[in-house]
Amino acid sequence: MEAAVAAEVSNKRVILKRHVTGFPTEDDMEVVTATVSLAVPPGLAAVVVKNLYLSCDPYMRRRMTKHSEPSYPEFVLGEEDLHFCVSVNPSYQVITTFGVSKVVESGHPDFKAGDLVWGMTACEEYTLITKLGSIFKINHPELPLSYYAGVLGMPGLTAFSGFFNVAKPKKGDYVFVSAASGAVGQLVGQLAKITGCYVVGSAGSDEKVNLLKTKFGFDDAFNYKKEHDLNAALKRCFQQGIDIYFDNVGGTMLDAALLNMRLHGRVAVCGMISQYNLEHPEGVRNLACVVTKRIRIEGFRVIEYFGTYRKFEEEMAGHLKEGNITYMEDVAEGIEKVPAALVGLFYGRNIGKQLVAIAPE
Ligand SMILES: NC(=O)c1ccc[n+]([C@@H]2O[C@H](COP(=O)([O-])OP(=O)(O)OC[C@H]3O[C@@H](n4cnc5c(N)ncnc54)[C@H](OP(=O)(O)O)[C@@H]3O)[C@@H](O)[C@H]2O)c1
Repeated sequence: MEAAVAAEVSNKRVILKRHVTGFPTEDDMEVVTATVSLAVPPGLAAVVVKNLYLSCDPYMRRRMTKHSEPSYPEFVLGEEDLHFCVSVNPSYQVITTFGVSKVVESGHPDFKAGDLVWGMTACEEYTLITKLGSIFKINHPELPLSYYAGVLGMPGLTAFSGFFNVAKPKKGDYVFVSAASGAVGQLVGQLAKITGCYVVGSAGSDEKVNLLKTKFGFDDAFNYKKEHDLNAALKRCFQQGIDIYFDNVGGTMLDAALLNMRLHGRVAVCGMISQYNLEHPEGVRNLACVVTKRIRIEGFRVIEYFGTYRKFEEEMAGHLKEGNITYMEDVAEGIEKVPAALVGLFYGRNIGKQLVAIAPE
């Protein structure tokens, strides 16, 4: 039985104080307390949710920049984003993100109190979600609920659709993954092994490199921060060259990978985290390789694949239950930790998927 819904509760939330240039800092954000009604306003097709886990994702940095690209609309200071929020200070924006939540009250027949959902919510304890098309009911509550912020949520679908639909692997392919121990990378490597590929990952610490080889089953891995020459590092790991580069970082790693691609190689461009905090992005110098080696470079966004989510959820849940795929999370406790956890992504502080536990399940 759900507890009776109180009319008003205190609601801690993370707001963006100012648009960011360069590396984000914890001081760009603030945790403030508001009072919110847990009732869905009459006539509104919406749900009020209690957020259980909030996801910290690199793309959120792009929305902190003023005048970012239209595909990553900036958090607009002083206006609401996807959700109704009670403004504490009308010049601040509550940050929105993916999360795992429990429905507290519903104004829509498809949802009822107690339902577990994942999807777009806000960095706060309670959220009134009006865009119900951006949340999914959770079909496998027997698996850890936090997985719906990672392997069974947006990062999982990113790894799965980017690898199979964009990179189009074949058994025996040589696959390179950057940011390989992260939310997306650890899954791409494991999917590559399941497909019968040879897979090498790069990561930013010896601890992460060790995890890639011992926990995630990568054939080889290297610490890119210790390599003076990335081209030489890739030549050492891929004597036959690379068929698929799953690019999470862009910049100098992409340049070095291009030099090492095989004929008809594919570069699936998932993200370029090395560029997100730069005011002037670095150039790519080795594009001539695209011609000589007939390389296909293709970017993608996970939102294109949300229509395939249910199929993905079943397949990935099956892999997890059978032990074919393992998933590592880095869980911070308490909403006060959101700013530090988000900033930490850009210093490689997370080991595995970074999320923040907001409330007990
Ligand atoms: N296309 C899409 O729809 C989509 C969806 C989700 C994610 N993405 C992208 O996928 C990439 C990975 O996301 P994720 O959620 O899996 O993050 P993540 O790997 O869990 O965390 C970010 C990691 O990036 C690495 N990093 C940070 N700054 C770097 C730099 N300057 N150079 C190289 N590596 C750096 C750090 O790992 P190290 O310690 O190894 O450096 C850090 O731990 C990001 O580029 C993200 O934007 C794209």
